[in-house]
Amino acid sequence: MPYPDELRREVEHYLEGLRFSDEEEVTGGLGEAMRYSLLAGGKRIRPVLALATARGLGRDTRELLPLAAAIELIHTYSLIHDDLPAMDDDDLRRGRPTCHVAFGEDVAILAGDGLYAEAFRHVLTHQVGEPARILEAVGELAAATGVNGMVGGQYLDVDRAAPAGAPGLRRLHELKTGRLIGASVECVLLIAGMSGPATNSYRGFAAELGVLFQIVDDILDVTGTDDALGKPRGSDERHGKRTYVSEFGLDGARELAATSHDKARTALAEADPAGPELEQITDFIYTRPS
Ligand code: IPE
Ligand code: IPE
Ligand code: MG
Ligand code: MG
Ligand code: MG
Repeated sequence: MPYPDELRREVEHYLEGLRFSDEEEVTGGLGEAMRYSLLAGGKRIRPVLALATARGLGRDTRELLPLAAAIELIHTYSLIHDDLPAMDDDDLRRGRPTCHVAFGEDVAILAGDGLYAEAFRHVLTHQVGEPARILEAVGELAAATGVNGMVGGQYLDVDRAAPAGAPGLRRLHELKTGRLIGASVECVLLIAGMSGPATNSYRGFAAELGVLFQIVDDILDVTGTDDALGKPRGSDERHGKRTYVSEFGLDGARELAATSHDKARTALAEADPAGPELEQITDFIYTRPS
């Protein structure tokens, strides 16, 4: 499936240029752990989605790189913490030993904390645009990753706290994964000053895309390989996690992914302007091998 590789390269190049420690001899080791996980070669779906949204709106993608990078920093922090022994206890990520395996649990926790704070510092100091709009976007990023977003979703995941049945499972996925993916679109709309009913299709699209992403992640946890995924297959089953596969079986999960993909595509078709990159990302998320 084609992927907007040119946008991915733009993101990759920008991330490579980031340095976090001002005093190499003092905190350089922490900066190294942060860059180790950040530059391990993820798919960059969230920042690419942000840039694709910007392009769809007719904006120069370079303008949105600080926001896009901040989103990827936050995503990387979530992966470092998700892999910790107290969470999913995984030792492989992005094809490398996880941060805590390479640097120790204590440093890995701090690397995650550091990425989270540096994400906000970066966007607040580098994002160009109308200050009130940037503030709104940063507020959305914080909300999407807080208790009513990603971290709340991770709580539902580890504490088995989601309500029973399909709506509860969908809520879990909306929060732990969907909100940050949704924010990758939403924050760009906010910086572009777009709001009101005209953006409803975009928002519906982004919300569905986030759920689709996690349904496919659940399927790949069963059908993938460590090598292709760059992370250990079977992590969910090992921990008795509640997933679309545990709840609906593999075929059921595949059908739900197909329905979700259709819904995302329909919402996207109604979003105007949108552009081919968003269509490519939607199809990639559905058919991706890892
Ligand atoms: C994995 O995200 C974590 C989930 C939210 C399911 P990705 O599959 O986007 O991971 P990378 O960034 O490509 O490594
Ligand atoms: C993690 O979900 C979602 C995050 C917020 C990091 P998973 O636990 O399913 O992610 P993977 O499969 O380890 O990448
Ligand atoms: Mg997890
Ligand atoms: Mg995990
Ligand atoms: Mg998973």
